Amino acid sequence: MSMPELSLFTSQLITEQGDNMKKGTKLTPYLLAGGFCILTFSTNVHTSLAANNKLGEKEFKEHCAACHADGGNLVKADKTLSRKDRESHGVKTAKDIVRLMRKPGEGMTTFDKKTISDKEAKAIADYIITTFK
Ligand code: HEC
Repeated sequence: MSMPELSLFTSQLITEQGDNMKKGTKLTPYLLAGGFCILTFSTNVHTSLAANNKLGEKEFKEHCAACHADGGNLVKADKTLSRKDRESHGVKTAKDIVRLMRKPGEGMTTFDKKTISDKEAKAIADYIITTFK
């Protein structure tokens, strides 16, 4: 490389770096905004999970605890809400539990959507799954 070429090359390098730095500073607000979104999103998920569980607990106590106190079963002793019992009867997911509320087995009250909304039913089911191991 001759001297003029070299200086052209270095000055190009410098302008490119300058451009990159400009791009970098332009990106910063977006990166910050993105990070902030993730942060807000995760705290939202966290608080809504906690709220869901609170609702589930309240509704469970109101509608289910009479027969399922402490996750047991006062009517049919072998059909408790513990994971082992439930799963051996094919009741595994929150959906399965909601389905049972709508169409229960013998000896259990039927809960329609007017008594327990879909949202409440899902909250109860989540509460059962996380509470009775
Ligand atoms: C009047 C008593 C009673 C009430 C109230 C009641 N259950 Fe039940 N529950 C039963 C009986 C009895 C069974 C067993 C039914 C059968 O033989 O399939 C049962 C079974 C279940 C099972 C399956 C357990 C297993 O091991 O197979 C789940 C889950 C369940 N109930 C959830 C609920 C939820 C949720 C509520 C409240 C929304 C509720 N139950 C309210 C009596 C009740």
